[in-house]
Amino acid sequence: MRVDVTVNGERRVADDVWEGESLLFLLRERLGLPGSKNACEQGECGSCTVYLDGVPVCSCLVAAGQAHDREVRTVEGLADGERLDPVQEAFIEAGAVQCGFCTPGLVVAAHDLLARVPHPGDPEIREALAGNLCRCTGYEKILDAVRLAASKR
Ligand code: FES
Ligand code: FES
Repeated sequence: MRVDVTVNGERRVADDVWEGESLLFLLRERLGLPGSKNACEQGECGSCTVYLDGVPVCSCLVAAGQAHDREVRTVEGLADGERLDPVQEAFIEAGAVQCGFCTPGLVVAAHDLLARVPHPGDPEIREALAGNLCRCTGYEKILDAVRLAASKR
């Protein structure tokens, strides 16, 4: 099947997409956007989080065909050209990245939180990031990064 989808503001078309193919596979393997990571492929880790019509989803759980005629925004699409999004900058500044596998999903989740709640408290931050697993950082630096990004708003 053909999938015609707007990704990061650009219309993209992929042909011969298999019905069981995930949006994550489409983005990474067909559209050359490897920012979203493939860790569990079961909706458990959040490393594949992208926006679908403005709502964060685990792209490993969304069929590519479901994105047809819709809008996807990936971690690559958060930056404004060469200028990183403040959430991306805060992750760097706070040292919230180790292996980096969880980072794209956490950045999208934090970006969504701050768009909804510009100055969240710690419980709200923890709740918003609860679906994103990190096996490296112990989460403290990640919380610091979200607090930092919020403080700069
Ligand atoms: S790879 Fe999608 S939730 Fe883990
Ligand atoms: S930095 Fe390695 S999984 Fe989070």
